[in-house]
Amino acid sequence: MTHLVVRRLLVDMEAPIPRHWCAGDPFRTAFLNALSMSFPVGEQFFIDAVRNGLKALPPEQQDRFRAEVQGFVGQEATHRRLHGLYNEHLRRQGLVNAWEVRSKERLKQLEGVDPRHPLAITAAFEHFTAIFADWMLRNADMLGEQDPRLATLWLWHSAEETEHRNTAFDLYQALGGSHEWRITWFRRISITFLGDALRQTIDNLRRDGTLWQWRTWAGAMRFLLGKRGLIRQTFGAWRDYFRRDFHPTDHDASASAQWLEAHRDKYVPVGA
Ligand SMILES: [Fe+2]
Ligand SMILES: [Fe+2]
Repeated sequence: MTHLVVRRLLVDMEAPIPRHWCAGDPFRTAFLNALSMSFPVGEQFFIDAVRNGLKALPPEQQDRFRAEVQGFVGQEATHRRLHGLYNEHLRRQGLVNAWEVRSKERLKQLEGVDPRHPLAITAAFEHFTAIFADWMLRNADMLGEQDPRLATLWLWHSAEETEHRNTAFDLYQALGGSHEWRITWFRRISITFLGDALRQTIDNLRRDGTLWQWRTWAGAMRFLLGKRGLIRQTFGAWRDYFRRDFHPTDHDASASAQWLEAHRDKYVPVGA
Protein backbone atom coordinates (compact mmCIF):
# COMPACT_ATOMS: atom_id res chain seq x y z
CA MET A 1 0.00 0.00 0.00
CA THR A 2 1.25 3.50 -0.84
CA HIS A 3 0.81 6.33 1.64
CA LEU A 4 -0.30 9.37 -0.36
CA VAL A 5 -0.15 12.89 1.07
CA VAL A 6 -2.51 15.53 -0.32
CA ARG A 7 -0.77 18.91 -0.51
CA ARG A 8 -2.08 22.43 -0.91
CA LEU A 9 0.26 24.20 -3.28
CA LEU A 10 1.30 27.71 -2.26
CA VAL A 11 1.09 29.39 -5.64
CA ASP A 12 -1.10 32.30 -6.63
CA MET A 13 -2.82 31.55 -9.92
CA GLU A 14 -4.56 34.94 -10.11
CA ALA A 15 -1.99 36.87 -12.19
CA PRO A 16 -1.99 36.21 -15.95
CA ILE A 17 0.49 33.79 -17.52
CA PRO A 18 3.13 35.15 -19.94
CA ARG A 19 2.45 34.07 -23.52
CA HIS A 20 5.66 32.00 -23.82
CA TRP A 21 5.97 31.22 -20.16
CA CYS A 22 8.09 28.09 -20.70
CA ALA A 23 11.63 29.41 -21.17
CA GLY A 24 10.38 31.78 -23.90
CA ASP A 25 10.01 28.74 -26.18
CA PRO A 26 6.81 28.63 -28.28
CA PHE A 27 6.75 24.86 -28.86
CA ARG A 28 7.48 23.84 -25.28
CA THR A 29 4.87 26.32 -24.03
CA ALA A 30 2.24 25.14 -26.53
CA PHE A 31 2.89 21.48 -25.72
CA LEU A 32 2.67 21.87 -21.93
CA ASN A 33 -0.39 24.09 -22.31
CA ALA A 34 -1.98 21.34 -24.41
CA LEU A 35 -1.33 18.75 -21.70
CA SER A 36 -2.78 21.07 -19.08
CA MET A 37 -5.94 21.38 -21.19
CA SER A 38 -6.44 17.61 -21.02
CA PHE A 39 -6.13 17.34 -17.25
CA PRO A 40 -9.43 18.49 -15.74
CA VAL A 41 -11.53 15.98 -17.71
CA GLY A 42 -8.85 13.28 -17.67
CA GLU A 43 -8.19 13.49 -13.96
CA GLN A 44 -11.91 13.38 -13.16
CA PHE A 45 -12.11 10.20 -15.22
CA PHE A 46 -9.16 8.70 -13.27
CA ILE A 47 -10.83 9.62 -9.96
CA ASP A 48 -14.09 7.93 -11.01
CA ALA A 49 -12.24 4.87 -12.36
CA VAL A 50 -10.33 4.36 -9.13
CA ARG A 51 -13.37 4.96 -6.91
CA ASN A 52 -15.46 2.49 -8.92
CA GLY A 53 -12.59 0.02 -8.91
CA LEU A 54 -12.47 0.14 -5.12
CA LYS A 55 -16.23 -0.46 -4.90
CA ALA A 56 -15.95 -3.47 -7.21
CA LEU A 57 -13.48 -5.23 -4.90
CA PRO A 58 -14.79 -7.83 -2.44
CA PRO A 59 -15.48 -6.03 0.88
CA GLU A 60 -12.64 -7.81 2.71
CA GLN A 61 -10.12 -6.42 0.19
CA GLN A 62 -11.43 -2.86 0.17
CA ASP A 63 -9.74 -1.89 3.45
CA ARG A 64 -6.31 -2.55 1.97
CA PHE A 65 -6.90 0.11 -0.70
CA ARG A 66 -9.21 2.59 1.03
CA ALA A 67 -6.60 5.06 2.35
CA GLU A 68 -4.57 4.92 -0.84
CA VAL A 69 -7.63 5.60 -2.99
CA GLN A 70 -8.55 8.53 -0.77
CA GLY A 71 -5.03 9.96 -1.21
CA PHE A 72 -5.17 9.38 -4.98
CA VAL A 73 -8.52 11.15 -5.26
CA GLY A 74 -7.27 14.05 -3.12
CA GLN A 75 -4.12 14.51 -5.21
CA GLU A 76 -5.91 14.33 -8.58
CA ALA A 77 -8.71 16.61 -7.39
CA THR A 78 -6.12 19.23 -6.36
CA HIS A 79 -4.33 18.91 -9.71
CA ARG A 80 -7.49 19.37 -11.73
CA ARG A 81 -8.53 22.41 -9.71
CA LEU A 82 -5.20 24.21 -10.24
CA HIS A 83 -4.98 23.23 -13.91
CA GLY A 84 -8.52 24.58 -14.28
CA LEU A 85 -7.27 28.00 -13.09
CA TYR A 86 -4.23 27.72 -15.38
CA ASN A 87 -6.48 26.79 -18.33
CA GLU A 88 -8.69 29.80 -17.68
CA HIS A 89 -5.66 32.04 -18.34
CA LEU A 90 -5.04 30.13 -21.58
CA ARG A 91 -8.65 30.71 -22.62
CA ARG A 92 -8.18 34.46 -22.05
CA GLN A 93 -5.07 34.30 -24.25
CA GLY A 94 -7.34 33.11 -27.07
CA LEU A 95 -6.46 29.41 -26.99
CA VAL A 96 -9.31 26.95 -27.53
CA ASN A 97 -9.49 23.62 -25.70
CA ALA A 98 -10.67 21.17 -28.37
CA TRP A 99 -9.07 18.19 -26.61
CA GLU A 100 -11.50 18.41 -23.70
CA VAL A 101 -14.48 18.33 -26.07
CA ARG A 102 -13.14 15.25 -27.88
CA SER A 103 -12.34 13.47 -24.61
CA LYS A 104 -15.84 14.03 -23.23
CA GLU A 105 -17.31 12.60 -26.42
CA ARG A 106 -15.09 9.49 -26.28
CA LEU A 107 -15.78 8.87 -22.61
CA LYS A 108 -19.49 8.45 -23.35
CA GLN A 109 -18.63 5.14 -25.03
CA LEU A 110 -17.35 3.79 -21.71
CA GLU A 111 -20.54 4.28 -19.75
CA GLY A 112 -21.64 1.06 -18.08
CA VAL A 113 -18.59 -1.05 -19.01
CA ASP A 114 -16.79 -3.42 -16.62
CA PRO A 115 -14.84 -1.24 -14.11
CA ARG A 116 -11.60 -2.95 -15.16
CA HIS A 117 -11.68 -1.16 -18.53
CA PRO A 118 -11.62 2.39 -17.09
CA LEU A 119 -8.97 1.18 -14.64
CA ALA A 120 -6.77 -0.23 -17.43
CA ILE A 121 -7.19 3.08 -19.30
CA THR A 122 -6.28 5.01 -16.14
CA ALA A 123 -3.26 2.77 -15.50
CA ALA A 124 -2.11 3.38 -19.10
CA PHE A 125 -2.43 7.16 -18.75
CA GLU A 126 -0.75 7.04 -15.36
CA HIS A 127 2.21 5.26 -16.94
CA PHE A 128 2.50 8.04 -19.50
CA THR A 129 2.21 10.66 -16.78
CA ALA A 130 4.71 8.92 -14.52
CA ILE A 131 7.45 8.64 -17.13
CA PHE A 132 6.82 12.20 -18.31
CA ALA A 133 6.85 13.40 -14.69
CA ASP A 134 10.14 11.72 -13.94
CA TRP A 135 11.68 13.19 -17.10
CA MET A 136 10.44 16.65 -16.15
CA LEU A 137 11.78 16.43 -12.60
CA ARG A 138 15.19 15.49 -14.00
CA ASN A 139 15.12 18.28 -16.59
CA ALA A 140 13.44 20.99 -14.52
CA ASP A 141 15.66 23.73 -15.98
CA MET A 142 13.75 23.30 -19.27
CA LEU A 143 10.77 25.02 -17.65
CA GLY A 144 12.77 28.29 -17.60
CA GLU A 145 12.35 31.17 -15.19
CA GLN A 146 9.71 33.29 -16.93
CA ASP A 147 6.96 32.11 -14.59
CA PRO A 148 8.20 30.41 -11.40
CA ARG A 149 4.59 29.69 -10.37
CA LEU A 150 4.02 27.46 -13.37
CA ALA A 151 7.40 25.76 -12.97
CA THR A 152 6.41 24.93 -9.37
CA LEU A 153 2.95 23.78 -10.46
CA TRP A 154 4.38 21.39 -13.05
CA LEU A 155 7.05 19.98 -10.73
CA TRP A 156 4.65 19.50 -7.81
CA HIS A 157 2.20 17.76 -10.14
CA SER A 158 5.03 15.60 -11.49
CA ALA A 159 6.20 14.63 -8.01
CA GLU A 160 2.70 13.51 -7.01
CA GLU A 161 2.16 11.62 -10.28
CA THR A 162 5.24 9.58 -9.44
CA GLU A 163 3.88 8.97 -5.93
CA HIS A 164 0.52 7.59 -7.03
CA ARG A 165 1.59 5.90 -10.31
CA ASN A 166 0.73 2.38 -9.09
CA THR A 167 -2.74 2.97 -7.54
CA ALA A 168 -4.84 2.29 -10.67
CA PHE A 169 -2.45 -0.46 -11.77
CA ASP A 170 -2.68 -2.31 -8.42
CA LEU A 171 -6.48 -2.02 -8.31
CA TYR A 172 -6.65 -3.42 -11.85
CA GLN A 173 -4.50 -6.38 -10.79
CA ALA A 174 -6.52 -6.89 -7.58
CA LEU A 175 -9.68 -7.09 -9.70
CA GLY A 176 -8.11 -9.80 -11.83
CA GLY A 177 -7.54 -7.58 -14.88
CA SER A 178 -5.71 -9.45 -17.64
CA HIS A 179 -2.32 -8.67 -19.15
CA GLU A 180 -3.89 -8.73 -22.63
CA TRP A 181 -6.44 -6.01 -21.89
CA ARG A 182 -3.82 -3.93 -20.04
CA ILE A 183 -1.66 -3.98 -23.18
CA THR A 184 -4.57 -3.48 -25.57
CA TRP A 185 -5.60 -0.30 -23.74
CA PHE A 186 -2.02 0.88 -23.47
CA ARG A 187 -1.61 0.59 -27.27
CA ARG A 188 -4.87 2.44 -27.90
CA ILE A 189 -4.12 5.13 -25.33
CA SER A 190 -0.61 5.62 -26.70
CA ILE A 191 -2.02 6.36 -30.15
CA THR A 192 -4.93 8.58 -29.08
CA PHE A 193 -2.96 10.43 -26.41
CA LEU A 194 -0.05 11.29 -28.70
CA GLY A 195 -2.45 12.22 -31.52
CA ASP A 196 -4.53 14.46 -29.24
CA ALA A 197 -1.42 16.08 -27.73
CA LEU A 198 -0.06 16.85 -31.20
CA ARG A 199 -3.36 18.24 -32.51
CA GLN A 200 -3.85 20.51 -29.50
CA THR A 201 -0.21 21.67 -29.59
CA ILE A 202 -0.53 22.59 -33.28
CA ASP A 203 -3.78 24.41 -32.66
CA ASN A 204 -2.21 26.33 -29.75
CA LEU A 205 0.73 27.33 -31.98
CA ARG A 206 -1.59 28.38 -34.80
CA ARG A 207 -3.58 30.65 -32.49
CA ASP A 208 -0.33 31.95 -31.00
CA GLY A 209 0.89 32.88 -34.50
CA THR A 210 4.08 30.82 -34.16
CA LEU A 211 3.10 27.65 -36.06
CA TRP A 212 5.07 28.57 -39.18
CA GLN A 213 8.17 29.96 -37.53
CA TRP A 214 11.45 28.12 -37.94
CA ARG A 215 12.40 28.57 -34.27
CA THR A 216 9.22 26.75 -33.20
CA TRP A 217 10.16 23.53 -34.97
CA ALA A 218 13.86 23.80 -34.19
CA GLY A 219 12.77 24.03 -30.53
CA ALA A 220 10.45 21.05 -31.02
CA MET A 221 13.26 18.88 -32.39
CA ARG A 222 15.51 19.76 -29.45
CA PHE A 223 12.72 19.24 -26.93
CA LEU A 224 11.63 15.87 -28.30
CA LEU A 225 14.74 14.33 -29.84
CA GLY A 226 17.74 16.25 -28.46
CA LYS A 227 20.25 14.72 -26.07
CA ARG A 228 17.93 15.39 -23.15
CA GLY A 229 14.86 15.10 -25.39
CA LEU A 230 11.56 13.79 -24.10
CA ILE A 231 11.18 10.97 -26.65
CA ARG A 232 14.81 9.99 -26.51
CA GLN A 233 14.87 9.73 -22.72
CA THR A 234 11.48 8.14 -22.08
CA PHE A 235 11.10 5.62 -24.91
CA GLY A 236 12.65 2.74 -22.95
CA ALA A 237 10.44 3.40 -19.91
CA TRP A 238 7.36 3.63 -22.17
CA ARG A 239 8.17 0.22 -23.68
CA ASP A 240 8.61 -1.44 -20.25
CA TYR A 241 4.82 -1.36 -19.81
CA PHE A 242 4.49 -4.20 -22.35
CA ARG A 243 6.43 -6.58 -20.11
CA ARG A 244 4.21 -9.20 -18.50
CA ASP A 245 5.93 -8.77 -15.12
CA PHE A 246 6.03 -4.95 -15.26
CA HIS A 247 5.08 -2.97 -12.17
CA PRO A 248 5.18 0.87 -12.00
CA THR A 249 7.44 0.75 -8.94
CA ASP A 250 10.14 -0.92 -11.08
CA HIS A 251 11.07 2.61 -12.11
CA ASP A 252 13.12 4.88 -9.89
CA ALA A 253 11.11 7.43 -7.87
CA SER A 254 13.98 9.34 -6.25
CA ALA A 255 13.52 12.53 -8.35
CA SER A 256 10.01 12.93 -6.93
CA ALA A 257 11.09 12.37 -3.31
CA GLN A 258 13.99 14.79 -3.72
CA TRP A 259 11.83 17.55 -5.15
CA LEU A 260 9.23 17.20 -2.38
CA GLU A 261 11.95 17.26 0.27
CA ALA A 262 13.75 20.29 -1.21
CA HIS A 263 10.55 22.35 -1.72
CA ARG A 264 8.72 22.02 1.58
CA ASP A 265 8.23 25.80 1.52
CA LYS A 266 6.06 25.48 -1.61
CA TYR A 267 3.21 23.41 -0.14
CA VAL A 268 1.27 22.54 2.97
CA PRO A 269 0.21 18.92 3.61
CA VAL A 270 -3.57 18.77 4.02
CA GLY A 271 -5.06 16.90 6.97
CA ALA A 272 -1.60 15.90 8.25
FE1 LIG B 1 -2.60 14.54 -11.75
FE1 LIG C 1 -2.27 10.77 -11.83
